[in-house]
Amino acid sequence: MSGARSRPRILVTFGTRPEAIKMFPVVNALARTGRFDVRVAVTAQHREMLDQVLAIAGIEPDIDLDLMEPGQSLDDLAARILTRFGEALDAQKPDRVLVHGDTLTTMMATLACYFRRIPVGHVEAGLRSGDIYAPWPEEVNRKVTGAIADLHFAPTEAAAAALRAENVAPAAIHVTGNTVIDALFAARAKLAADRSLAPQLAQLRTRFAGRRIVAVTAHRRENFGAGMERIAAALVRLAAREDVAVIYPVHPNPNVTGVMRPALSGICNIALIEPLDYLGFVAMMEASDLVLTDSGGVQEEAPSLGKPVLVMRETTERPEGVAAGTARLVGTDTGRIVAETTRLLDDPAAYEAMAKAHNPYGDGTAAVRIAGIVAAAHPGSRDLAADAVAVTVAASR
Ligand code: UD1
Ligand code: UDP
Repeated sequence: MSGARSRPRILVTFGTRPEAIKMFPVVNALARTGRFDVRVAVTAQHREMLDQVLAIAGIEPDIDLDLMEPGQSLDDLAARILTRFGEALDAQKPDRVLVHGDTLTTMMATLACYFRRIPVGHVEAGLRSGDIYAPWPEEVNRKVTGAIADLHFAPTEAAAAALRAENVAPAAIHVTGNTVIDALFAARAKLAADRSLAPQLAQLRTRFAGRRIVAVTAHRRENFGAGMERIAAALVRLAAREDVAVIYPVHPNPNVTGVMRPALSGICNIALIEPLDYLGFVAMMEASDLVLTDSGGVQEEAPSLGKPVLVMRETTERPEGVAAGTARLVGTDTGRIVAETTRLLDDPAAYEAMAKAHNPYGDGTAAVRIAGIVAAAHPGSRDLAADAVAVTVAASR
């Protein structure tokens, strides 16, 4: 810790939509302790989708590297994050950095910290599929981050076990739950108080009154090309049913829009829409009958909402939803996606078996736990608290 600094400086960094959703509860929990000089640095690996979350969370970053470029490549983005985030570290000199999950922002920010011997805490640590190409490149992003971090906040016992199997010191692993559940509970509470916060959904419900709603998202790199085309073909076949409506906020990656827009535009019961803000998306999941996705975060949220989720991937690093019975891996084969969705729509027993609310990913207190563990790791913050008490006692004499 720098000599003149009264409180440890914790730099929380993220760059994409899901990281922002899962890190805003951590930023708030750290700030509420009053023990830290909390700073937020965004790489803005995503621009519009990151800003949607920042606006809802009320977070104004201290540093915004504004790195997103249209159609960015992995190597170019990785290089720019490493250099620019390194410069931010040199300016900020944090006592600790907190990163989240498995994006290029996560891995490159962690490397930049390592080059400066700045300790890293990894939120959502220990997820493993066992296949470095699925999800790609996220599996390696997580492993590199896990090799460097000295605090590992594992969302589940299975994630903690995966870290121990990689010889991470057990004392450095903390099972906290996933902060996505904290974010989800906060969003549901806001929506319960004011449904007008999800205006687009109200319009879509009117448009699709009487139909079964299938909520869709898709963006995984390993599904680009043929996988995306097979998913699009499945949606066309599902939309041939008059009792079904598909609501699909399309990820702006050109590899996604370039397939989905030509294939799905102009079909009357498919709503291809821009990405929803977090409140709008949570409201959409709540209103849907089932969810079709290849997203990581959506796999974690749907079980909490009691929505069956068909995961359009061959493998998952989030097996807890599958084990609980609310998620099922269906891959990207058109026929399989159509068959599994049709079964859920037409077989009430099959539907009921999956539509059970489960919280395998947390209880909504992950961020508070993380803040407590960070405080314990920085005794300076405890000394500060003790100093404050001593000063108060002395002043009152
Ligand atoms: C990234 C992450 C992935 C994460 C996903 C969440 C990497 C390698 N990938 O994938 O792990 O699951 O975010 O969504 O870190 N774009 C916009 N506006 C935005 C966001 C993206 O136009 O707000 C477009 C841009 O053309 C951008 C492209 O999408 O170049 C790809 O963005 P990028 O972050 O590189 O990859 P994602 O597929 O979003
Ligand atoms: N999400 C959102 N708006 C949308 C689609 C998704 O706010 O239109 C949220 C969703 O609730 C989840 C997160 O974004 O919390 C998932 O992000 P994404 O699928 O892009 O990334 P992944 O989780 O796969 O890394």
